[in-house]
Amino acid sequence: MSVRMSVPRETASGELRVALDPVVAGRFAQMGVTVQLERDAGAAAHFPDAAYESATLLDTDAVYGETDLMVRVAPPTLAEIERLPEGATLVGFFYAHRSPDVVAALQHRRILSFAMELVPRISRAQSMDALSSQAAVAGYKAALMGADLSCRFFPMLTTAAGTIRPSKVIVIGAGVAGLQAIATARRLGAMVEAYDVRSATKEQVESLGAKFLDLGVKAEGEGGYARELTEDEKKQQQEALAGFIAKADVLITTAAIPGRPSPKLIPASMVSGMKPGAVIVDLAAEGGGNCELTEPGQTVEHEGVIIHGPLNVPSQVALHASEMYAKNLLNFLTPMIQDGEFKPDWDDEVVAKSCLTRDGEIVHAPTREAIQGDAS
Ligand code: NAI
Repeated sequence: MSVRMSVPRETASGELRVALDPVVAGRFAQMGVTVQLERDAGAAAHFPDAAYESATLLDTDAVYGETDLMVRVAPPTLAEIERLPEGATLVGFFYAHRSPDVVAALQHRRILSFAMELVPRISRAQSMDALSSQAAVAGYKAALMGADLSCRFFPMLTTAAGTIRPSKVIVIGAGVAGLQAIATARRLGAMVEAYDVRSATKEQVESLGAKFLDLGVKAEGEGGYARELTEDEKKQQQEALAGFIAKADVLITTAAIPGRPSPKLIPASMVSGMKPGAVIVDLAAEGGGNCELTEPGQTVEHEGVIIHGPLNVPSQVALHASEMYAKNLLNFLTPMIQDGEFKPDWDDEVVAKSCLTRDGEIVHAPTREAIQGDAS
C-alpha cells in the first residue's frame, strides 16, 4: 500500500521553514508516495499551496490523523504527537535530551521516530546531513547580520571622499557555520581571521582566504568534534584571544560542543576591550551563547559594543533552508521507500543510528541513558 506522507504547517514560534518544498514533494510522489500537505504549510517559506501540484491539500485534523509518515522541521509538541495514529512514523529534528516529555509521548504512542540530528556524519550520509545544511545557512546569514549591524563598511572603498579600510571580521569556531560565515564575509570584502580548537580547520580557513589565529590551544575530541577545554586551556585561550578581539570590527562566534552548553569564550571584560561600534554575532545563542553577555533572542549593547544573539537563524532564510532540508529528507528516506511502501532496512547504520524511538522503546542509547539513567 502506498505510504501517506504528511507535511504539517510548522507551529513552533518563529519557524518559517517547511519540511518539503514543491520539487521534493514531486520527487516523493514519483516514487509512489501519497504526499499530503496541510493547507498553507509552505506559505511562510514562500511556497504557495498551488505550487505543490503533486500533493493533496488537507486540513490539520486529516494531515495528523490520516498519515503513515509525517515529515517536519521543528520538534513536535505533545499535543501534535497525540494527534498521530499509534505506530505512525515521524521524521524531523527532536533534540530529545532537551524534552524528555516528548520522548515519553513518542514511546506511549509507539511512534517510529527518526531524528535528523542523529544522522551519522559519515561520507555516505553527507547528502542527508541536515545539521550541516542548516548550519551553512546560519553561517551565511551571520555574516550578513554582522555587516548589517556594523557602523562600518566590510570592503575597502576608494572614493572621492577618501579611502575606507576594510573591516576586520573574526570568526571563532570554524565548523560548518563558521566556514560559511568566513566565505560570506570574504565575499563582502572584509579581512577575515578565524580560530578553532581543531587544528584540521587551519587548512580549511586558509583555503577561504582567511588568516588562522594560532592561540596554542588544541582540543580535538571524538568523531571530528571538539572536546571541552580544561580550566588552564580556557585561560590560555582567553588571554591570547583578547588581543586579537580588541582589533575586530565584527566578531562571529559559532563554537559548540555536542550535547553541552556553548563554551563561554568571550567574558564581559573582553567585550569592554573591543572598539566602539564593534558587533558580536553569537550564533551559539541557542546553547546559551559563546559570549557571557549574550541574551538569547535579543540584541543588547555593552559599552558601545552591540551583542546580537539570534535564534533559529536558518528560518530567516526560509526558502533556501527549506529546499536544502527537503533534499536531506529525500536522500535520507529514498532508500527506505520501495514501490511506494515504507520499508526501513535496519541493517543500514544510517537508519539504525538515526532512530530515536521504535515499538515503544527509546532505541538511541545516549537519549535513553539521559532520560532513564539506564545504560542497558
Ligand atoms: P559544531 O557546531 O559542533 O561546532 C562548531 C565549531 O566550534 C567546531 O568546529 C568546533 O571545533 C568549534 N569549537 C568548539 N569549542 C571551541 C572552543 N572552545 N574554541 C574555538 N572553537 C571551538 O560543529 P559542526 O560545524 O557541526 O561540525 C564539526 C565537525 O564535524 C567538523 O570536523 C566537520 O568537518 C565535521 N563534519 C563531518 C561531516 C561528515 O563527514 N559527513 C558533516 C559535517 C561536519
